[in-house]
Amino acid sequence: KGCKLVGCGSALPKHQFSNIDLAKIVDTNDEWISSRTGIRNRRILSDKESTTGLAVEAAQKALQMAEVEADDVDLILFCSSTPDDLFGGAPEVQKTLCKSNPLAYDIRAACSGFLIGLVSASCYIRGGGFKNVLVIGTDSISRYVDWTDRNTCVLFGDAAGAILVQACDRDEDALFGFDMHTDGDGSRYLSAAIKQNKTNHSGRPDLGISPTDTTISHLQMNGQQIFRFVTNAVPQSIEASLEKSGHKLSEIDWLLVHQANQRIIDHVAKKLDFPKDRVISNLKNYGNTSAASIPLALDEAVRSGKVKKGETIMTAGFGAGLTWGSAIVRW
Ligand code: ACO
Repeated sequence: KGCKLVGCGSALPKHQFSNIDLAKIVDTNDEWISSRTGIRNRRILSDKESTTGLAVEAAQKALQMAEVEADDVDLILFCSSTPDDLFGGAPEVQKTLCKSNPLAYDIRAACSGFLIGLVSASCYIRGGGFKNVLVIGTDSISRYVDWTDRNTCVLFGDAAGAILVQACDRDEDALFGFDMHTDGDGSRYLSAAIKQNKTNHSGRPDLGISPTDTTISHLQMNGQQIFRFVTNAVPQSIEASLEKSGHKLSEIDWLLVHQANQRIIDHVAKKLDFPKDRVISNLKNYGNTSAASIPLALDEAVRSGKVKKGETIMTAGFGAGLTWGSAIVRW
């Protein structure tokens, strides 16, 4: 069996928050943020919006493009580290989207979540007889950053993106080599730890264990370590995907790296000697949207006519964990 990408979609919160707006709440400025990161704007989820709502909107657009009914989807992979419910966002998306009750579950792998979802979709299709797999990447990191910490709050934005992966004949196969990794030792460089506060607001019975009230710490990041790590690991992973699939870099039409920082994207392209005008980037408008960043950038590039049917894309993700990897896909 082969698998191909047949539809994409994305969704954004309404509220824009520019570097100028940020400079009113923390000690920063447009020049610092744009020169160090390439980011100028981002979207922030309001209290009336939800991660699930964005995910459903992105998924509906992907289904519409693919001309596939929601009830014909047999698997939903909801890639997110910031679902609206502790037990995951996939069931809520499934309930809103379709009546047919397809298998639906969460993949929590930070900014690499979408890439891992995409590769998982191909495995379900190739080995499990699945036909239409909806891969959704969505995150609302704005809920977890400390809005008084200029080191982190300037970097992130909220969004959702979705791709429908469909079973096809082997000769139409559009997901070629992939390469993925986790190094748990790097978890200290980026985390939002779960904290047990010693209060008893939740009414937990005293069983000899201290009563707790669980909260999540604000996001903590060592930006320089991540920068250094990623600019080595991502080009290596790309080389590995090329080798596994038997592709040459000259056969790749577009480079789509997780949109975390323009300097990282430029470093990766330079290390590979990849032409600048074939690098996809929309980070300027949305910041780092975590698991949403790859499908959001792909959706924009497809809908604007930049990426055309039949073109080959090298995509690479990285994020907390640390997790990272790459995959070669044909649109
Ligand atoms: N505005 C103004 N000044 C700032 C800001 C800000 N927003 N943030 C930091 N500074 C200051 C620092 O306090 C520091 O000042 P000091 O020298 O007086 O101490 C100075 O700027 C330099 O800070 P650095 O941290 O050294 O800046 P650096 O050049 O490393 O850039 C950045 C920081 C942009 C975070 C960079 O390290 C980076 O992009 N790293 C990768 C991070 C990343 O990609 N994370 C996400 C990946 S995983 C995921 O996607 C979930």
